[in-house]
Amino acid sequence: MKIFTTTREVQDYLADLRNNGKTTGFVATMGALHRGHLSLIAQAKQHNNVVICSIFVNPTQFNDPSDLEKYPRPIEKDTQMLIDAGCDILFNPPVNEMYAAHEHWHLQLGEIEHLLEGKFRPGHYQGVTQVVYKLFNIIKPDAAYFGQKDYQQFMVISKLVVLMHLPVKLVMCPILREDDGLAMSSRNIHLTAEDRQHSLVLSKTLFRIRDEFDANNIPALLDEAAAFINAETGVSLEYFEFADSETLQPANQNTKNIVALVAARVGKTRLIDNILIN
Ligand code: PAJ
Repeated sequence: MKIFTTTREVQDYLADLRNNGKTTGFVATMGALHRGHLSLIAQAKQHNNVVICSIFVNPTQFNDPSDLEKYPRPIEKDTQMLIDAGCDILFNPPVNEMYAAHEHWHLQLGEIEHLLEGKFRPGHYQGVTQVVYKLFNIIKPDAAYFGQKDYQQFMVISKLVVLMHLPVKLVMCPILREDDGLAMSSRNIHLTAEDRQHSLVLSKTLFRIRDEFDANNIPALLDEAAAFINAETGVSLEYFEFADSETLQPANQNTKNIVALVAARVGKTRLIDNILIN
């Protein structure tokens, strides 16, 4: 696997590949890789000649400085995992390679920016679009693979692509879960043994509510979900909502395609999960 830390080197290398007619699939990550990330690499490998993964803990998308500071950075283990997964290129830049001092970024993303995650993490999606725009510009991938795990992020990046006329195909990949249902996440390593047990209430509630959806109305299901999650020790619910799967506006019984999304603090760790209802 080729490893680059400067934009110049990775751009030159990729330009050569493109001139030779190779297609490129891109997976953007913040590292602390798990099987969820590797499933994106696997999909990218299936459909492209060359797969490139970035590992960059993007400071501009963290609204909580301690979250940024304690974000895990096991770069040696990550590198080995990417080699084993057959990734061709790793782009792992330092912060000053991606950002000049005092950079300003603001993109008019519309209401989607302030819903759900946006309400609890102000400015988060400005930081995400800022870094993804830069990464797309540097790498110029034919296709980019993102997880359904961060459902709203996928919709926001789709908006970025439309607004900026970016010539990249976006692919949403399914959520990989542990055997007991917990959605894989880099943040799961912060869970204590007790947190780990309590965290299961999130996926359990999503599955239960999906199964009950046809026989119930949305307000009743919302009450049930909140009661179920609030009853779990050590879990503090931030939101459980049904949303239109495209706009992420609150869904009603007539909404055609619905996604249920949840965010909660389990102990000191903030977790998110979601499920497509229909
Ligand atoms: P990160 O949290 O590292 O996630 C990188 C990609 O892996 C995202 O597309 C995410 O949705 C996907 N992913 C995470 N857990 C997954 C799971 N259990 N199953 C399937 N896919 C999963 O998302 C980010 O980084 C950043 O915001 C980034 C896009 C890299 C911009 O900084």
